[in-house]
Formats: sequence, C-alpha cells, structure tokens
Amino acid sequence: MGKDIEKEIDREIVKRVREPRIKDSDLFETVEEVFDRSTVLAVLELKSRGCIDKLKGVVSSGKEARVYWAKDKNGRDLAVKIYLTSSAEFKKSIWKYIKGDQRFEWITSLPTHKLMAIWARKEFSNLVKMYRAGVSVPQPLCVHRNVLVMEFIGAEGVRAPLLKEAVELGEIDYGEAKKIFAEIVRNIHRMYWLAGLVHGDLSEYNVMLHNGSVYIIDVSQAVEISHPNAHMFLYRDVINIVRFFRDELGLEAASPDKIYNYITSNKTCDDLDKYLEE
Ligand SMILES: Nc1ncnc2c1ncn2[C@@H]1O[C@H](COP(=O)(O)OP(=O)(O)O)[C@@H](O)[C@H]1O
Ligand SMILES: [Mg+2]
Repeated sequence: MGKDIEKEIDREIVKRVREPRIKDSDLFETVEEVFDRSTVLAVLELKSRGCIDKLKGVVSSGKEARVYWAKDKNGRDLAVKIYLTSSAEFKKSIWKYIKGDQRFEWITSLPTHKLMAIWARKEFSNLVKMYRAGVSVPQPLCVHRNVLVMEFIGAEGVRAPLLKEAVELGEIDYGEAKKIFAEIVRNIHRMYWLAGLVHGDLSEYNVMLHNGSVYIIDVSQAVEISHPNAHMFLYRDVINIVRFFRDELGLEAASPDKIYNYITSNKTCDDLDKYLEE
C-alpha cells in the first residue's frame, strides 16, 4: 500500500473516531477492555465493513493475542483474534519464521504495530489456504490490521474444548482416540500436499474438538514447505502429536518417523487407516 493512501486512510479514520456518535460501548457489549486507539479503529473499520457487529466476551487471553467471542449483524457467532503485544521472545520467533519465507523477504525491521498487522495477515492467509485445501480449520472471514475474524468453534458463545482439555475431562476413550489421531494425521497430510504448508506449532493445545470433528487452530506461524526449516517443523509437530496420544491416551501410535515418512512420501492418504494398524 502506498504511503499516501495509508495517510489518507489514517485521516479518514481519525475523522470518524472524532465523531461523537461512535462510542466504545457500541462496539464492546460486555467487554470492558482497554484497547489502544489503533485497535479500536481497526475494529470500527471491520464493523463498518459489516464483518463484526459486537464483541461479546473474552474467550482467551494469551501472551500475544486475545480471542473474543463476537456476533455479526445476523447474530452469527464469530471468533475475533486481536494481536496486541510483542515480547522480545515473540519478535524472535517471528523472525525465525519470516526468515527464509519468500513472501516476507522484504522485511528487515518494523515497529510493533506493523509486525502485529503482518502477523494477523499471515495467519489469515494461512487459514485461507488451508480452508480452501479442505483442512479442518475455522473459516477465515476478514482481517484488518491486527484484527482477524473467523468462524467460532463452539456454541452459544462457549468455545469447544481443546484436545488437551477433552482428554483431561476423560471424554475420549481408546476407540475415539484412534479416530482423532488418524484425523489429525490426515489434516497434517492435507496441509502439506494441498495447502503446501506446515503448521509449526501443532500440539494438544492447538487442536479443538467440536461435534465429533477435529479443528486445527493457531496457524500464524505456519510456513510454506519451501521454507528451509519446514521439514524440521513438520517432524516436531508429528513428535508432539504422537507423544501426546501415546503418553496421555495409551495409543500405540506408530513411531514419529513412520508417520513423518508417510506424510511426506504419500500423495494421497486413502490407506492411512490400514497403515496405522500395521
Ligand atoms: N475459532 C475459534 N473459535 C473458538 N475459540 C477459539 C478459536 N480460535 C481460538 N480460540 C480459543 O482461543 C485460544 C487462543 O487461540 P490461539 O489461536 O491458539 O492463540 P494463542 O495460543 O496464540 O493465544 C484457543 O486455545 C481457543 O481456546
Ligand atoms: Mg494456541
């Protein structure tokens, strides 16, 4: 985006925010949050595009991002992920993923709010690629600056449990564990072959279970398979998942090496169930 256009947009936004009609309470129904000005403006912009109507409550407050339950104007539930801060650690991790990714080669150094915007856009574009490839992820809806809007996984404002939580609640028996494990491997495979991406932070904390299906979330750090570390990230993802199912659910899953080789050397995974039985 050209500098002039950016300035023009900023002027327009400042004009609109000064209008007394727009109150924070119009946007944030039950959420009492202190957002910086540029985040309020980003949410307002998404409201004016008809993407969000109201933020209704906090779903999760992470280190770098907060996730809210929101509604659109038709009453549909939404999840709104807002990137807010960047610790030194986060910046370091951003660079680790950005370096070597052809899409981000032009970046050398940037102020925090720009980094947050790039990160939100990166998560959005990864979600779009995965969703189109048929990977089970929340449907991406819109993004502006540091604010990303997607399908809400859950019902009535209550989010679905993470894999980790469902297991802790004892909700998963051995038979289901086997099915869920295969479903996760199938999604990693699809991500690799059809979206050309590797998640890079896959674990029991970034998989949700809803209506008997698996949803993969938190894809901001996903990298293209051409990234120099992509296969190392993939191997680590596989290790995390295999270890969790083995240690927490007693699943005699195939070894990480076996799963990794299967994913990287088979273009289709029609025979996955048979393979996992062997
Ligand atoms: N689409 C969604 N629908 C419902 N809840 C979500 C959704 N995306 C994320 N969450 C919730 O928000 C938490 C944080 O989201 P995540 O993307 O994993 O960010 P991070 O781990 O970086 O804080 C998740 O653990 C999950 O509980
Ligand atoms: Mg997460």
